[in-house]
Amino acid sequence: MLATRGLVSGYGRVETLHGVDVEVPRGQITTVIGPNGSGKSTLLKTAAGLIRTWRGSTLLEGEDISGRPAHARVRRGLCMVPQGRVVFPFLTVAENLRMCAYPVKSERDLRARAEEAYEFLPVLRERRNALATTLSGGEQVMLAIAKVIMLRPRLVLLDEPSLGLSPKMIGLVYQKVSELAARGLTIMIVEQNVRKALAVAGHVVVLVLGSVRYQGGVARLENEVDLGRLFVEGKG
Ligand SMILES: Nc1ncnc2c1ncn2[C@@H]1O[C@H](COP(=O)(O)OP(=O)(O)OP(=O)(O)O)[C@@H](O)[C@H]1O
Ligand SMILES: [Mg+2]
Repeated sequence: MLATRGLVSGYGRVETLHGVDVEVPRGQITTVIGPNGSGKSTLLKTAAGLIRTWRGSTLLEGEDISGRPAHARVRRGLCMVPQGRVVFPFLTVAENLRMCAYPVKSERDLRARAEEAYEFLPVLRERRNALATTLSGGEQVMLAIAKVIMLRPRLVLLDEPSLGLSPKMIGLVYQKVSELAARGLTIMIVEQNVRKALAVAGHVVVLVLGSVRYQGGVARLENEVDLGRLFVEGKG
């Protein structure tokens, strides 16, 4: 579904990704793990077109989208839910749903999709007239996930949706993510919680210092990467 080829990007003059090749297989959950600062968010942002590609390319179903702006990638079916659950804080839940579905022009489609989002995430229906800024952390993540229902992408990039949530809420987030995957959506998810990441993943990417340390199935990962050591190193 998605592939990067020798992807290089960064901030200012500092190169952060040093030639990254990843594959995101169709219809699966791919999880990206790695120590803090290893470039996980940068990889997602570069693939989504939120930061510029310096060299290399991003292919969406074989089409090179590297030169396209983020909104053009959204129209091609690639949607990103950024770390920190960015929503429009001073709009209501209902208004946020409309805003994130900006490519959808028909009023009827907008209503139908919002209804579908409320069915999928009932807490949002209860809170539909509340300002987004008044939502709990967990509710904000649900609102961020609702973007997927509103936009109907082919591929969604999720950056640490479980960050700062209670174990119960993390369970709910992962239940929803699994339900989306079961509907056939391809998902690439960055996760700090390695156990959680591996429980849902079909494909795993381990990113360390801006380079791919491992990529493949979960079973082989344990033999090839010393996860305990990697994450202790990464905390330093
Ligand atoms: N907006 C920015 N401006 C400058 N440098 C940045 C910016 N965002 C990230 N960086 C730097 O790029 C590197 C990779 O950061 P990135 O956010 O991609 O890591 P990460 O793996 O997502 O980390 P975390 O697990 O903490 O979310 C880090 O050295 C970071 O300091
Ligand atoms: Mg990050």
